[in-house]
Amino acid sequence: MKVLIVGAGGREHALAWRINQSPNLTRLWVAGGNAGTAALAESLDIRANDVEALVAAAREVAADLVIVGPEAPLALGLADRLTALGIPVFGPTQAAAQIEASKSFALDLMRDAGVPCPGYHVFTDQSSALDHLRAHQGPVVVKANGLAAGKGVLLCRDSEQGAAAVKECMSDRAFGEAGDTVVLEEYLSGPEVSVFAFCDGENLAPLVAACDYKRLEDGNHGPNTGGMGSFAQPDFWSPELASEVEQTIMKPVLRAMAERGAPYQGVLYAGLMLTGPDSNPTPKVLEFNCRLGDPETQVVLPLLDSDPLELMLACALGNLDRVPVRWGTKNYVGIVMVSGGYPGQYQTGFEISGLEEDGPEDTMVFHAGTKLGAGGLSSPPLTAGGRVLTVVGGGETIEQATERAYSRLEKISFQGARWRRDIGSAVNQGAAQATG
Ligand code: AMP
Ligand code: GLY
Repeated sequence: MKVLIVGAGGREHALAWRINQSPNLTRLWVAGGNAGTAALAESLDIRANDVEALVAAAREVAADLVIVGPEAPLALGLADRLTALGIPVFGPTQAAAQIEASKSFALDLMRDAGVPCPGYHVFTDQSSALDHLRAHQGPVVVKANGLAAGKGVLLCRDSEQGAAAVKECMSDRAFGEAGDTVVLEEYLSGPEVSVFAFCDGENLAPLVAACDYKRLEDGNHGPNTGGMGSFAQPDFWSPELASEVEQTIMKPVLRAMAERGAPYQGVLYAGLMLTGPDSNPTPKVLEFNCRLGDPETQVVLPLLDSDPLELMLACALGNLDRVPVRWGTKNYVGIVMVSGGYPGQYQTGFEISGLEEDGPEDTMVFHAGTKLGAGGLSSPPLTAGGRVLTVVGGGETIEQATERAYSRLEKISFQGARWRRDIGSAVNQGAAQATG
């Protein structure tokens, strides 16, 4: 199979790495890419939201499968365009991608399908939102309705902070048109987990779960980021919980999407909060994404014991029921190394050293914001973004995986590099803190 991956981050490097092991692969391209994918695939200099250029490239290389990493091209209709040309694509149509691109779409769908989610109200004018908040007590979550690049969720201690957040969205337009509609949500608390369902519109593969760390600093302090680390598999992710999530969330959503004429194909990512008592939690959906998570992919794909191309093609073609999908039982931990200053201003162009040194067994380094140096593949790569690398370790236990990941990481350096020292510990399994 000739395969084109779209995207330029750690998620896409992990996809390229795993797909490169498939006996079904004949040639691999990455549209976007970084210094890591350049060692595994041919890079095409195309931005992920340039749908025209992506469609042209898929035709040009005669791709047998296009795998879309990020949400933006899906929300712009890349999958629809490729399907119309007869090119199989892993990733949902524009209509189905609304499950991520419009929070109110996702919430209404869940309400209609009886899927557990926070209570919510949707507002398209600021004064009604503020009126609602005046009658409200306690913490509240304010969300920009549209795609806001992982920002756009404001956790507010009280209705006063809530009112400021509404103004930030609606009159200051901090998230552009994404915040012209806002959702006020019930503030929930509990451990969080990212659950991934590969599906073909009707059938779904066994679920796989991971946790990510969103805050910049140890102990979940500091600003939110794109993700500072991840691990799989969470110890609370039992077969009973997996079955409950499948029956009460994933299956009803797939049915409801098909009924709405927007069958969902690709990977459905549910961001869940486990509410209520630890001994018998109720999983509720905080958000859906229409793609794999980053940095969750970097710890989930090493668990895939089946052929990745067979799996993704089956999702695209609607015959997932005929493909066995298995996830391994090991554990993986991923630590993200970021540029100094991230998620604020940071400098790039620094040489990354130590990548060629082997770490302990079962470790991998996935690139995100990197680019080739002047000497191409034979010279050290340079930093080119906020999140630079994800260093992954595997092991029989989370502790062993954590130890291996950190000992590999210690050999790698670049100017200003920073990372969290507590990835792999259960510190992210607590109530989200209100920051306003
Ligand atoms: P989201 O982008 O919707 O996943 O939100 C980002 C983060 O905000 C989540 O990972 C949670 O920590 C937090 N969050 C989102 N919605 C809620 C909610 N209704 N109650 C409490 N925390 C939330
Ligand atoms: N890890 C969070 C995300 O990919 O949205």
